[in-house]
Amino acid sequence: MKSFLLAFVLLALASSFASAFDPSPLQDFCVAIDEPKNAVFVNGKFCKDPKLAKAGDFYFSVKMPGDTNNPVGSNVSAVNVDKIPGLNTLGISAARIDFAPYGQNPPHTHPRATEILVVLEGTLLVGFVTSNPNNTLISKVLNKGDVFVFPIGLVHFQFNIGKTNALAFAGLSSQNPGVITIADAVFGSNPPINPDFLAKAFMLDVKVVKDLQAKFQMDD
Ligand SMILES: *[C@@H]1O[C@H](CO)[C@@H](O)[C@H](O)[C@H]1NC(C)=O
Ligand SMILES: *[C@@H]1O[C@H](CO)[C@@H](O)[C@H](O)[C@H]1NC(C)=O
Repeated sequence: MKSFLLAFVLLALASSFASAFDPSPLQDFCVAIDEPKNAVFVNGKFCKDPKLAKAGDFYFSVKMPGDTNNPVGSNVSAVNVDKIPGLNTLGISAARIDFAPYGQNPPHTHPRATEILVVLEGTLLVGFVTSNPNNTLISKVLNKGDVFVFPIGLVHFQFNIGKTNALAFAGLSSQNPGVITIADAVFGSNPPINPDFLAKAFMLDVKVVKDLQAKFQMDD
């Protein structure tokens, strides 16, 4: 009896840890709304009365390419719960990623999601780096129709190595995957991290760090 109780308590604890991820929905759907006075259930966000749900709550269009005329030459159109309120509690989202010739989606991580990427046009060099201490680079050149997975939390990137535009779509295992772009987080934080500390951390001259900070602070 005691060990049964212990197992039960452990299971209950495990499931409360598991809710750090998008929880399994307890109803068909829960279209998120901002106005709590029209809400019926609460499950992370306020949910719309299911009787009032309409196709538009589950719809968003990314047929227009994103503008890649920027320093990295790519544009990510995220389709998360902010774009499709019907994604609320469902643990999934998507993104369209456009690349100019030689453009890139620079090294970044999604703190809350694994990503699966499908290349629709062009040629991408993609990769991720395993955690410490090995920091193994796992990378591959992808062509149209190829699919690649970036495990949750790991630093990853996509570089367009072709002379043409490239287009990819990604599925992500969270309604709100989050993005941490490494260079923006480290050199573009607000307020800035002490440049002397960064110089030591990255084995760089402090002048180089200040130059990087000026660049990444500018484009915020
Ligand atoms: C991405 O494209 C959209 C739509 O063209 C544009 O509004 C946005 O500024 C672009 N983002 C970047 C980072 O260039
Ligand atoms: C990490 O590297 C060590 C030393 O080379 C090796 O023994 C270990 O198997 C590696 N681990 C992984 C997960 O690759």
